[in-house]
Amino acid sequence: MTANELRQKYIAFFESKGHKQISSASLVPENDPSVLFTTAGMHPLVPYLTGETHPAGARLVDYQRCVRTGDIDEVGDKTHLTFFEMLGNWSLGDYFKDESISWSWEFLTDKKWLNLKPEMLAFSVFKGDENAPYDEEAYDKWLEMGALKSRIAKLDKEENWWPAGGKGVGPQGPDTEIFYWTGEKAAPEKFDPEDDRWVEIWNNVFMQFSKDESGKLTPLPQKNVDTGMGFERTVAVLQGTSSVYETELFSGILDKISELAGEDYNEFDDDAPSMRIIADHVRSAVMIIADGVIPSNKDQGYILRRLIRRAIRHARKFNIDSKDLVKPLVDEVIASLGEAYPELVEKREQIIIVLSTEAAKFEKSIQKGLKQIEKIWQQKQEVTGEDAFDLYQSYGFPLELTEEIAFDYGQEVDRDKFEEQFKKHQDLSRAGAGQKFKGGLVDDSAETAKLHTATHLLHQALRQVLGNHVEQRGSNITHDRLRFDFSHDKKLTDEEKQKVEDIVNAKIKEALPVHQELLTVKEAKKRGAIGLFEDKYATLGDKIKVYFVGDFSAEICGGPHVTNTSELGVFKIKKEEASSAGIRRIKAILT
Ligand code: ALA
Repeated sequence: MTANELRQKYIAFFESKGHKQISSASLVPENDPSVLFTTAGMHPLVPYLTGETHPAGARLVDYQRCVRTGDIDEVGDKTHLTFFEMLGNWSLGDYFKDESISWSWEFLTDKKWLNLKPEMLAFSVFKGDENAPYDEEAYDKWLEMGALKSRIAKLDKEENWWPAGGKGVGPQGPDTEIFYWTGEKAAPEKFDPEDDRWVEIWNNVFMQFSKDESGKLTPLPQKNVDTGMGFERTVAVLQGTSSVYETELFSGILDKISELAGEDYNEFDDDAPSMRIIADHVRSAVMIIADGVIPSNKDQGYILRRLIRRAIRHARKFNIDSKDLVKPLVDEVIASLGEAYPELVEKREQIIIVLSTEAAKFEKSIQKGLKQIEKIWQQKQEVTGEDAFDLYQSYGFPLELTEEIAFDYGQEVDRDKFEEQFKKHQDLSRAGAGQKFKGGLVDDSAETAKLHTATHLLHQALRQVLGNHVEQRGSNITHDRLRFDFSHDKKLTDEEKQKVEDIVNAKIKEALPVHQELLTVKEAKKRGAIGLFEDKYATLGDKIKVYFVGDFSAEICGGPHVTNTSELGVFKIKKEEASSAGIRRIKAILT
């Protein structure tokens, strides 16, 4: 069965059970600044799992694109992926455990659907603890479907609770997981969850509780089902391959990498991890760029930059020039994912430009950085944390890359030292910015403050009109105009500009109060603050200043601002133009 067929079958099966297909949401979460990427199929559905009515009804099905970055360093082995997909079906207060389990069984084992042999399957259910009961219903249902007792494990919250570990706040509950035997010999009669030849392919979460900050579980007003089937793993099961990288999803990309490297991909070869890293990272980068992210030094842009740069670093091992890598690999990714995500076809050119630009930038700095590391090594046979910071600072050399190169020399870089330097530098440059700020304010503080507040309104209005991919890329204010650079890849239409102006002017008319609060990074994120969270290395407890404009905008900023938007006058966009690739610039005035 092909990957496309699996997606189609999953959707068709659940449609036959009264579900409506919804489309995959963006990889960049729209309403959740607490995480950088959509990490599970249920993520975009959180508001509906907690009680909002979904316009498509109470039974939903989809395939959802996801990115998880926690394991980036593990990518290269045979199981880890940065970009992956989840097939999911949901009941929003409609059916519960009974139907969920019997439909999972039917979809997996029925000849008409996946036709997997029941003797290859195993299951786990929640065994209960002092806060929540044993999930007897799930256990009994699997038995009723035909599962053997020896193939159902009862496990604790670490395993059978979702979100995993049960530590997070929000909607959650016990889950039941479905495993497939991937060993060479016949499946053992007894299920051993510790044996990794049993691969988890599907997770059905029975979301009945909500957990608050204090850790208290309260029953949700509606009982939901949230399931997630690991798409790539299931493709591997269906295609009988030993890993996801051996499936049709990666064969085209890995073949192309082999061709460029002049060396066959062999999963057991020493070079295989590097080839898998290139394949995974380029595939992930393509999907992330398609969702509007541009390489930068913060948030999603930072992860994207890291993925691209790490892929290039591994391509260099095979003497593949990044110029030769981009187009052919983008085309392979589109060949594999373009049917499921048709926007990739439309965005092909743009994806190639973003990747090529970043690759060229990196090639330049890599040349300089590599020479420098070599020199350092020759001088003292050690790359210190300070050296790593200098390399970062002078050549844009990511820490991870220095670490990898140092690792090749057989040495570890002192990360703490690097972070120490990073912080020190940040404090210095903040102080510097503060000084400059004061100087600029002497003449026109009132006008400047107005334009600062107008910039926050503009930033938020742009996000409302164009989408949440809009992020500040630069801001420059003089006494008579503001200039604001932001990530967006298209010229604004007259209509969009008008809408932005209208929103800003409406907020001025509403006479919104402006106030500031000193918050920890964590609190700021929780309260939806936007702006330069560039403190990648600051701890979540560090305090930052956040300005609030009514409940319209919350943004990290040093100020100064007016105290009420009614002081601003009338906002007018004078010019909208490209600033650099993927970055637009607006000049605007207040009259
Ligand atoms: N939300 C559940 C998971 O990601 C289904 O495993």
